[in-house]
Amino acid sequence: MSVKRSSIHGQWSSRWAFILAATGSAVGLGNIWRFPYLTGENGGGAFVLVYLVCVVMVGIPIMMAEILLGRRGRQSPIHTMETLAAEEGLSPHWKLLGWMGVVAGFIILSYYSVIAGWTLAYIFRIGAGVFVDADAGLSKKIFTDLISDPEKLLAWHTTFLIMSVIVVSRGVKNGLEQAVKFLMPTLFILLLIMVGYAMSTDKFVEGMSYLFVPNFELLAEKNFFSDIFLPALGQAFFSLSIGMGAIMIYGSYLSQKSSITFNCFTIAIADTSVAILAGIAIFPIVFTYGLEPAGGPGLIFITLPIAFGQMPFGTFFGCLFFILLLFAAWTSAISLLEPAVTWLVENRNMTRVKAAALAGAIAWLLGLVTVLSFNHWAFSFNFAGSVKENGFFDIFDILTSNIMLPIGGLLVAIFAAWLMSRKSTVEELGLGDGAAYQAWHFAVKYIAPFGVIIIFLNAIGLFRLLGLGE
Ligand code: TRP
Repeated sequence: MSVKRSSIHGQWSSRWAFILAATGSAVGLGNIWRFPYLTGENGGGAFVLVYLVCVVMVGIPIMMAEILLGRRGRQSPIHTMETLAAEEGLSPHWKLLGWMGVVAGFIILSYYSVIAGWTLAYIFRIGAGVFVDADAGLSKKIFTDLISDPEKLLAWHTTFLIMSVIVVSRGVKNGLEQAVKFLMPTLFILLLIMVGYAMSTDKFVEGMSYLFVPNFELLAEKNFFSDIFLPALGQAFFSLSIGMGAIMIYGSYLSQKSSITFNCFTIAIADTSVAILAGIAIFPIVFTYGLEPAGGPGLIFITLPIAFGQMPFGTFFGCLFFILLLFAAWTSAISLLEPAVTWLVENRNMTRVKAAALAGAIAWLLGLVTVLSFNHWAFSFNFAGSVKENGFFDIFDILTSNIMLPIGGLLVAIFAAWLMSRKSTVEELGLGDGAAYQAWHFAVKYIAPFGVIIIFLNAIGLFRLLGLGE
């Protein structure tokens, strides 16, 4: 039986529209802000290596599964899971997977918007020329001044959320294509220019070996699972936008003819290259200016402006860079809103505009917690042996990327590979029943779920408690 549902929210206008939109969702602050700072916090090369393994072995197979479910269900993730579960004769409670995604989406967007707000603020700071010939001390001070002022953070956070709500209320498909088609390649070229600058610094080689060569002395001090595997797994989910229904809803607008496999590989390659390029651009600067790789979430905001302050036409390039980063964050933020908005439209009979405004308001309110976590409410805590300094921001971040997204992905994998009939998945993927299909099926059935479970259990120390492993 071939499923002939169509989405009431529309369909992508062309084959490339989906790739562009999904790449827009995947490429964002996660690649340029989060990836380098996590790499710095978690010891460099080993983290990068494990991250790449997670993308290939867990991320891509789950992404294919999530798109597959979305396209078959063609509704908001909540209704999609409910419909597909009914079709396979399973419990309607599968819709809770959709709900968890909606909740994760709100939490991620709430802090994502605050960080995107930093990006907005930096467009103006760099444009004003304050970083010309700035040293590390000045750059740090400018960053600290920004995050310790809740009023400023609030203003930028509000601006960014309004921008996102406007796009979502017009429908994700309109306008997005142009933004992604022109701005993403420009961002890519700018990153290459930054890499060129990094190559001209004395510490280029040091930066490269930090990024690509596992440092075993550093590793000896770390708990492999909680310090490297879990954050790397979480970053793979975060960066590919999987585990919360964002890619599922984008998949629901995908035409039946389009190849899920080709699309996924294209998106994952684009996403991973941007992250790696960002790392190559940043670490030589970190070492050249004597900064701390483990500097936390401020890393790119402290390092890159110093480089822009030194290079020819730096004010221009710097401004442009942060403008493009803002666009990248924008195209990601709208995908975090989309699952909730489609649900409101389907279930509460709201217009898209109202639904987007309501969802935006919830994320905005929640974002106040992150705004305050860098100043008035700041506190540090110990998580699995490492100190986190940014209170609620870190809690939100760890809760979503390291816990909720992997659980979401785990359930997607279980649903697609263990519960859905083989016939349904063969039909959706369109790979036939040969080696390619079997490789995917094996990865989703065994590697991804057991990978996630083993990493979880080890990270919380269960195996150590039981005296197994290590
Ligand atoms: N992937 C985006 C980034 O790297 C963030 C993002 C957008 C996301 N949609 C998501 C993360 C869904 C997790 C789930 O910036």
